[in-house]
Order: sequence, then structure tokens, then C-alpha cells
Amino acid sequence: MMNKKLGAKILGTGAYFPKKILTNSDLEKVIETSDEWISSRTGIKERRLSEKNEYTSDLAYKASLEALKAANITPEEIDLILVATITPDMFFPSTACFLQKKLNLRSIPVFDLSAACSGFIYGIATARAFIESGLYEKILLIGADELSKITDWTDRNTCVLFGDGAGAMILTASEEDNNILSTYIGADGSYSDLLFIPAGGTANPANIDTVNEKLHTIKMKGRDVFKAAVPKMALAAQKAIELSGQKIENIRLFIPHQANIRIIEAVAKKIGVSMDRVFINIHKTGNISSATTITALDEAIKTGKIQKGDLVELVAFGGGFTWGATVIRI
Ligand SMILES: CC(C)(COP(=O)(O)OP(=O)(O)OC[C@H]1O[C@@H](n2cnc3c(N)ncnc32)[C@H](O)[C@@H]1OP(=O)(O)O)[C@@H](O)C(=O)NCCC(=O)NCCS
Repeated sequence: MMNKKLGAKILGTGAYFPKKILTNSDLEKVIETSDEWISSRTGIKERRLSEKNEYTSDLAYKASLEALKAANITPEEIDLILVATITPDMFFPSTACFLQKKLNLRSIPVFDLSAACSGFIYGIATARAFIESGLYEKILLIGADELSKITDWTDRNTCVLFGDGAGAMILTASEEDNNILSTYIGADGSYSDLLFIPAGGTANPANIDTVNEKLHTIKMKGRDVFKAAVPKMALAAQKAIELSGQKIENIRLFIPHQANIRIIEAVAKKIGVSMDRVFINIHKTGNISSATTITALDEAIKTGKIQKGDLVELVAFGGGFTWGATVIRI
């Protein structure tokens, strides 16, 4: 007898934000900016910042504990860990290895995944493929970033935008339930010079000059990123809906990457969705890269914005450029 097709069932989600809050008025004191400029251009009012000795794997660990609790399983039941991040604790070992150690797990495979702000969507696509192929059964998927540690705090063009946080999801193989209806991911490396960190890798290894020239921090051509983000996010949103076999009007809530409220509004307009169906928490978080969509999803679930059975779409865009979307039934 043929086995039934395996689906990826979401067992639980979790999130963690560092305690320290940096408001726009705090920023007014250190750079030439204003709450009015930041709020009106980006929608951001405040963001969370990690402590010096609080690493990406620490945020990932706390988000994982929340997700394990929500899923009502023990860490020992996990057979694969994936961490989407562009701010690893170190170049290597992977942040997934540090997280594994914190969870006191041995032997299971773990690895990091690098797709910038689309990292969590890439992670869902990867986890889903592992589950549907029957290779792994219970996957702990994390989106965790500490952008505050790779930000030039003297550059007002970028430093007002970013924050820190982590979100986690536990997925299990199931013959009865399938929560991940579709995933769509894409990339175009020809845009790599619009949003990047120039130094620290093999192209430009760290030295005294790279440090003095602040080449280990995010460099961005904001307007060009904005222009590319809108059509790519709209495309990803439409493709994932098409692949899911659902209609756009059936999606209860859209959870877009929270990079800029104006990008989100433009994408919503382009795909014909009114803003009351779009989840927004950018005012509290800023852009937290791969942690954005999963922490927003976790908040939407925990605040009752979405209920069991609802269709939700996560959509993201990030450095690379990368983009992606997924339609989920909660
Ligand atoms: C960064 C961003 C908010 C800038 O908004 P913008 O409307 O494009 O603004 P501009 O870059 O054209 O700058 C306009 C002016 O504001 C100034 N400015 C930039 N940052 C400022 C700040 N924090 N406070 C006050 N003024 C600022 C600029 O210097 C410029 O001044 P000038 O006209 O005298 O030269 C916007 O381009 C953006 O969000 N881009 C996408 C970034 C993003 O989402 N990246 C991550 C993707 S995952």
C-alpha cells in the first residue's frame, strides 16, 4: 500500500526580543534626525537592541524555548535545526551549532541559512522540502538577527531602520495535516551592491583600514532598494497564492517583511489588498531581517488576530536581492 503524502504541520511558534528599547527620540540625541522624519518615512517609532554579551544564539535560544512550549514537545524530539541569520555569533561554527549546545542536544544535524531578510521564508521552503521528502520529522526553524551589531550608528541613512529579535517555529511531518500550502522563493545577485557589508569576508578580509572605514557595517542605497522591493514582494505574494491554489480574497492576513511602512503600503496596493488585512508591527520593532515575518506571525497568533484554520501569507524581501512568500493555514 502506498504511504500518504507527508505534509508539514506547524506545532508551535515563539518569539523573543531583547529588553532594551531605543526610541526615535533617543536617536535624535545622537544623530541628526527627528522622530517626525523616521516615523513618516519608515513607520518606525522604536526598536529593540541586544546587550553586548547577548548573542544571536541567545535570542534564538529564548525564542526556541517559547516555540517548544507552544508545541508541547521536548528539545530531544527535534531532529533538525535550521537558523536563518545574517548576523551569526561567529563566522563559524554556525549559530545553529551554538543554539544546539544551548538546547543541550547532540548528534542531530544543524545549519545556518543565509538569505538576508527573506531568510525565514527560505527556511520554511527548506524545512518543508526536508519534511515532505521524509528525511526529517521534527524541525526547529529559527529566524534570528542582531542588526544593531552590524549597523554604523553614525550613518543616519541606515541606523534608524534596524533592530534585533528572534522567532522560532516547530514543524512536524504529518499524513493528516499540512499547514504549508505553498512556498515561492527567488533571488537576483546582480543587485548585490545595493545592500551589503563590504568587508570581513574573503573579498575584503578584516584589517585596520576596513575597520577605520567602517566597512564591516551595512551599506545601502535606500531608494534603489525601495524601488526593487515593491515589485518583487508583490510578485512573490501573487506567485505563492497561485501555487497554493487559493484566491487572494481567502487570505485572512498578510504578514509582509517589516522594512518600511511605505513599502508595505505600496505592495498591498499593487496586489489589491486593503491595509486592514495587513499585519503591521514595524513601529515597535524596526527591520529585524530574518526574524521579522516569524515574530510578526507569532504576535498575530498570540494576540488572536488570526485563528486556527485561517489562511495567512508571509512575504519578504532582502539583500541579495532575495525574495519569497509562503501561504500558511494556521
Ligand atoms: C532609507 C529610506 C527610509 C530613505 O527614505 P527616502 O525617502 O528614500 O529618503 P532619501 O534617501 O531620498 O533621503 C532624503 C533626505 O533625507 C535625509 N535623511 C536620510 N536619513 C535621514 C534620517 N534618519 N533623518 C533625517 N534625514 C535623513 C537624506 O540625507 C536626504 O537629505 P537631502 O535631500 O538633503 O540629501 C528609504 O529609501 C527606504 O526605506 N528604502 C528601503 C530600505 C530598506 O527597506 N532596506 C532593507 C530592505 S530588506
